[in-house]
Amino acid sequence: MLEIPSHLKSLFVQFDLDSLDGLKFSERRLSDLANCFADPNAYAKAIADGNPLLYRVASFEPRNGDGQLHYGLGILEAGKVGAEYYLTKGHLHSYRPAAEVYLGLRGEGMMLLEEENGEAYALPLRANSVVYVPGHTAHRTMNTGSEPLVYIGVYPSNAGHDYGTIAERNFQQVVVEVNGAAVVMKRDVYLKSLEAK
Ligand code: F6R
Ligand code: ZN
Repeated sequence: MLEIPSHLKSLFVQFDLDSLDGLKFSERRLSDLANCFADPNAYAKAIADGNPLLYRVASFEPRNGDGQLHYGLGILEAGKVGAEYYLTKGHLHSYRPAAEVYLGLRGEGMMLLEEENGEAYALPLRANSVVYVPGHTAHRTMNTGSEPLVYIGVYPSNAGHDYGTIAERNFQQVVVEVNGAAVVMKRDVYLKSLEAK
């Protein structure tokens, strides 16, 4: 096998998706995502039941500066809070024009995208699929399957993460299980359906 010279080691990563022990992950548990899920009662119950780990991200920053790229390997667990599938916090990039490419490696999920002009849409993210997140677009990932959703996101090194702006208003749409299927609906419609219960 080709030996990688030590000064080039940051330019090559070999993943073994069945054993990720060597990677340094940031972890997000349910308590890190206060106010992200729509159903407050289901959220409180899931916290009381053990505050599960929702996702982990290993970030790679081989070079910094104009034109350089960073990337992260994300692993989002399968599960739900009430009817809403496990999700990531979601963010805009601090440098708003920064776009991102998501590459699905394993599992079944979706991404919610929301542009600054308010246009909101959902796209699938699964093994062998690519989602392009344009600049100026908030993005959140959901796992709608029964296995961990594994993906890589590649973004400009100067993108930065702004969590606050989208946290103030939350995403307009939610992805919930209805009769065994993943359904995208407006957050207020889902909240009304909870009141009716
Ligand atoms: C980076 C990016 C992903 C996310 C990851 C976790 O710009 O979009 O690597 O960081 O999916 O989601 P957040 O950062 O929203 O907790
Ligand atoms: Zn991003």
